[in-house]
Amino acid sequence: MMIPATPLAAVLLLLLCFSASAQVTRGASRPPPGCPTSCGGVSVPYPFDIGDGCHWPGFNLTCDRTRGRLLIGTLEVVEISLANSTVRVKDSAGAVNITYHGTPDGNGTWGGLTGAGPFVVSETRNQFVVTGCNVQATLLGDTGNVIAGCSAFCAINDRWEQGAGTSSPAAVAACSGIGCCETPIPIGRPSYGVEFKWLDPNHEKDHELPNAVRVAERGWFQGASAALLNNSLADSSPRTPVSVVLEWAVDSAPLAPPALATTGCPQDAARSACRSSLSSCRNVTGNYRSGYVCQCQDGYQGNPYVAGGCQDIDECALPGLCSGECTNTPGGYTCRCPRGARGNPRIKDGCIKSSLGLSVGIGIGSGAGLLLLVLGAIFVTRKIKHQRAKMLKQKFFKQNRGHLLEQLVSQKADIAERMIIPLVELEKATNNFDKAREIGGGGHGTVYKGIMSDDLHVVAIKKSKVAVQREIDEFINEVAILSQINHRNVVKLFGCCLETEVPLLVYEFIPNGTLYHHLHVEEPQPSLPWMDRLRIATETARAIAYLHSAVSVPIVHRDIKSQNILLDSTLVAKVSDFGASRCIPVDQTGEATAIQGTFGYLDPVYYYTGRLTEKSDVYSFGVLLMELLTRKKPCSYRSSDEESLVSYFTTLLAAGDLARVLDPQVVEEGGKDVEEVAMLAAACVRMEGDHRPTMRQVEMTLESLHVPHGNIVACHMDAPNYSVIKGANREEVSRQYSLEEEYLLSSRYPR
Ligand SMILES: *[C@@H]1O[C@H](CO)[C@@H](O)[C@H](O)[C@H]1NC(C)=O
Ligand SMILES: *[C@@H]1O[C@H](CO)[C@@H](O)[C@H](O)[C@H]1NC(C)=O
Ligand SMILES: *[C@@H]1O[C@H](CO)[C@@H](O)[C@H](O)[C@H]1NC(C)=O
Ligand SMILES: *[C@@H]1O[C@H](CO)[C@@H](O)[C@H](O)[C@H]1NC(C)=O
Ligand SMILES: *[C@@H]1O[C@H](CO)[C@@H](O)[C@H](O)[C@H]1NC(C)=O
Ligand SMILES: *[C@@H]1O[C@H](CO)[C@@H](O)[C@H](O)[C@H]1NC(C)=O
Repeated sequence: MMIPATPLAAVLLLLLCFSASAQVTRGASRPPPGCPTSCGGVSVPYPFDIGDGCHWPGFNLTCDRTRGRLLIGTLEVVEISLANSTVRVKDSAGAVNITYHGTPDGNGTWGGLTGAGPFVVSETRNQFVVTGCNVQATLLGDTGNVIAGCSAFCAINDRWEQGAGTSSPAAVAACSGIGCCETPIPIGRPSYGVEFKWLDPNHEKDHELPNAVRVAERGWFQGASAALLNNSLADSSPRTPVSVVLEWAVDSAPLAPPALATTGCPQDAARSACRSSLSSCRNVTGNYRSGYVCQCQDGYQGNPYVAGGCQDIDECALPGLCSGECTNTPGGYTCRCPRGARGNPRIKDGCIKSSLGLSVGIGIGSGAGLLLLVLGAIFVTRKIKHQRAKMLKQKFFKQNRGHLLEQLVSQKADIAERMIIPLVELEKATNNFDKAREIGGGGHGTVYKGIMSDDLHVVAIKKSKVAVQREIDEFINEVAILSQINHRNVVKLFGCCLETEVPLLVYEFIPNGTLYHHLHVEEPQPSLPWMDRLRIATETARAIAYLHSAVSVPIVHRDIKSQNILLDSTLVAKVSDFGASRCIPVDQTGEATAIQGTFGYLDPVYYYTGRLTEKSDVYSFGVLLMELLTRKKPCSYRSSDEESLVSYFTTLLAAGDLARVLDPQVVEEGGKDVEEVAMLAAACVRMEGDHRPTMRQVEMTLESLHVPHGNIVACHMDAPNYSVIKGANREEVSRQYSLEEEYLLSSRYPR
């Protein structure tokens, strides 16, 4: 059986007719006083009307005074909502029916969502409801495609299941598949096909429950099921009225041309329909209807369609909005906790007296408690993170300090204690170790330039890249050594930070780079003048001599090379990098240590025996002197005979042919001094440590060169034994040569 189609279309058609006839009254659609405002207990606000001339086109409702019913066509109006732009209707006549009652299979159409009039079936507030036993109803699209649908089942007795075959009323009332099913109406089509099917070929239970397909307000069936299921199946009347929600919109279509206001509403609509100055217009044109509605602005309620219709909402009178001191304002309200209390006044018992009175215990309501709990949790997790970082710092500090104190056990431990700098200060000084602050770096670590906030000292901060024990030891060692040293030609250590795994060392900032960089410039460029080289050599010798003698326990630097001589702004030499340095207790003549040093500067005797003495530094210094004289890099230089710088230099010196290897600039500027320095260098690199001069002697010799010749004073007592220096005979040179070759050929160097 075909189902009577387009039930609502009939209503809409009816309403369209009304609106056509109402065109005349449009301009004068102001609600005159005295228009009836209610019918059958339902209030009828403008733009609705039940009389003449009081309504907006299309909103003429019928008041059936005899039966006390307000009607839209045949639908009984239960409630009109201006705020939601909805009308709730009771459909007892079956205007919105797609109803089957005891009928066999049938297909139908339903055009309930089409239309241009003010009323449409709300798709969000209604559902597609099917009741019956073992039935299926499907909503179909234009081409018969399935859009939605559901099936309702009832159990049929078989030999396994005896007893009541009817599904229980409670199960049916839930409308979740037993005797009833419901599904949302998919939005947006002008019309739908409806297909109804019996699923049980035996039709055993077909008539146990009323078979019906309805469009009904959500939740309607749950409320009405008792009465609905009570209906006798044979008698279809009286029908149980179905609750349906219709949406409406003010239609401005007849006005032309529509000039759009910023809200998307026609300007005239905003002016003519939304008459309250505190209202706004909303375009509700969708893909199934057009029009617009008026709404009171936030904080106002009432009728936006009449002038002065929107009234301020007294929020303070509403329960639950504010538990504190409430002040109503136009369109809003303020809510504060009373004096002397704090918290959230917008929740119940949210205000807590801040004084620690007796009310505190009672005052902490569940809401505030929860809030505190959440805040507490955040606080605690932060605290834990912070604590963890702090503990790590403390652990490193303890560890490093322990090492440091161990190193300094017999020495002035308190000096080192005073040098400890907190990590935060270094972070501040380097802008959190900003990349832009990096001034150097090598395999070992990175050097940052920093400015200490307290005294604006410019410092260099050495930070290790890797946290291996050897690095840690070296850094600690450097602190231990440098903390005891205060010499003009030794780089000054301001302090150290022990809170990182590898301690950070903070030195005075030496702005002019290393001797190496000044010396080994590109060839055509002149390098350091001879006088500067001589002075730097003297200053370096002075620093090393000081390390060897002036400090309570002699210190061997172990890594004297041009890269470790820093130059300040006036090119004053500063010996640096004491990571490998060792203290040698006075009573010991030599200490067996792991070999450390730099290829090219390394004392071969030390290399072979592992016995470390001050004379190893003397050897390295001798190489440094050769470097100053020749401007050749000791670590990479090879003569044409594949000789190292040291053996080539000594060979040439013994042969009286030194000029071959000398830096031409030195020959030009140096004069007679050059030979003396060359001899000194050769003496420094002699094979036997005992035959080498002490650093003190080297220093004195170099200093004497600054003094005008023929005026040597005061240093004879300590002056180097020239017979030793000049004893660089042929035999020793060749012996040195072979030994050195041998050691150069040994492949492994630790550093
Ligand atoms: C609704 O159903 C009733 C009875 O089944 C029928 O008389 C009426 O015409 C139907 N309404 C529409 C709008 O089709
Ligand atoms: C409004 O509806 C009533 C009854 O349905 C009718 O008598 C009246 O003429 C209508 N008014 C207008 C202006 O259409
Ligand atoms: C208006 O809509 C809201 C939200 O959909 C709903 O809770 C309320 O009951 C509706 N009011 C009326 C009168 O329909
Ligand atoms: C309903 O429609 C389906 C599918 O189009 C068709 O198979 C069935 O025969 C129709 N039933 C009736 C009673 O027209
Ligand atoms: C069921 O119908 C009977 C009469 O047909 C009536 O007396 C009874 O009140 C109805 N029950 C409910 C719940 O509507
Ligand atoms: C309402 O908005 C739609 C788009 O959302 C637009 O196409 C339509 O023209 C607007 N109608 C009016 C009357 O402003």
